[in-house]
Amino acid sequence: MKAILVNTPGGPEQLQLGEYPKPEPKPHELLVKVHATALNRADTLQRQGKYPPPAGASPLLGLEVAGVVEAAGEGCSRYKPGDKVFGLLPGGGYAEYAVIDEAMAMPVPENLSMEEAASIPEVFLTAFQALVWLGRLQTGERVLVHAGASGVGTAAIQLAKAMGAAVVVTASKEKHQVCLELGADKAIDYKNASFKEEVLRYTENEGVDLIIDFIAGPYFADNLDCLRTDGRLVMLASLGGGKVESLDVRKILAKRLQITGSTLRTRSRNYQAKLTQELRDFALEKFKTCQLKPVIDSVYNWQEAAAAHRHMEANKNTGKIVLKVMK
Ligand SMILES: NC(=O)c1ccc[n+]([C@@H]2O[C@H](COP(=O)([O-])OP(=O)(O)OC[C@H]3O[C@@H](n4cnc5c(N)ncnc54)[C@H](OP(=O)(O)O)[C@@H]3O)[C@@H](O)[C@H]2O)c1
Repeated sequence: MKAILVNTPGGPEQLQLGEYPKPEPKPHELLVKVHATALNRADTLQRQGKYPPPAGASPLLGLEVAGVVEAAGEGCSRYKPGDKVFGLLPGGGYAEYAVIDEAMAMPVPENLSMEEAASIPEVFLTAFQALVWLGRLQTGERVLVHAGASGVGTAAIQLAKAMGAAVVVTASKEKHQVCLELGADKAIDYKNASFKEEVLRYTENEGVDLIIDFIAGPYFADNLDCLRTDGRLVMLASLGGGKVESLDVRKILAKRLQITGSTLRTRSRNYQAKLTQELRDFALEKFKTCQLKPVIDSVYNWQEAAAAHRHMEANKNTGKIVLKVMK
């Protein structure tokens, strides 16, 4: 089959269309003819040789797909050849064919295109896990979503609003309109103002109950100041670096703060399957009624994967970058 291969670990120019063996579905796996896949930061790191795939996963890039079931492995009971499915993969999405664990597949809603469906799994599962499982967000609470216009951020805004929370985001100014249209109550231009001062002003010094953070080191101290008593901080990435310059940890005690972090890709199959089931129960109907929307920044022909990676690495996207897999 055709697949996007990484010639040598390095820059986007290393991505090239080539030939790779077609995968075989093992028991409880579906072989899917891929129509679309979507980019994740993990792909850009894996391309550079900085993020090896988990043991047993395809070495090809691509953590999510939408496509049509071509064959079902032994023991599969939920889907049959011809069904349209989308979902999370441990790798292998940048290819004509991919295998997906049946428990990780969801049916593509009638009203969504394959490109839209492919843009959902990684960011909505990550945001759902962060808000609900780790952040224990409650109706009426306030959540601060950093990088609100990122793929995960745009999913988090919508999910938090659907759960009845108030949402504050940080993002580049030109990305505010999209965040506000998705339901954010307040957008902060973090490049031209202190997000801490803006959050405290907006909340009349009360702070927020939950923060979803991707920036880490440089935001850590200000994040603690933005949290109210019993607040939770969920860390999902370290886009700004891992080091904290100076910190008074007594705030954690005084406000009874809880700090946690997670990566979705390293979670067990059972964890990912349960998360998929819960997201499906919460969100699939809402996608059908358009209460939740896939947020697509751009769609590239997969032969232009290098340009798509450059676009992401330049922080130019608002929402997801999709690769359309062509014959
Ligand atoms: N832990 C997990 O399970 C998990 C799962 C999925 C993704 N992630 C991680 O979560 C992050 C977001 O993923 P994504 O796919 O949603 O990203 P994305 O769509 O590429 O968006 C990232 C955005 O973050 C902002 N940003 C980048 N560097 C920044 C910095 N130093 N300070 C402040 N803002 C910065 C930029 O938006 P502005 O223009 O607004 O600054 C950028 O467009 C990535 O690091 C990804 O690896 C983690």
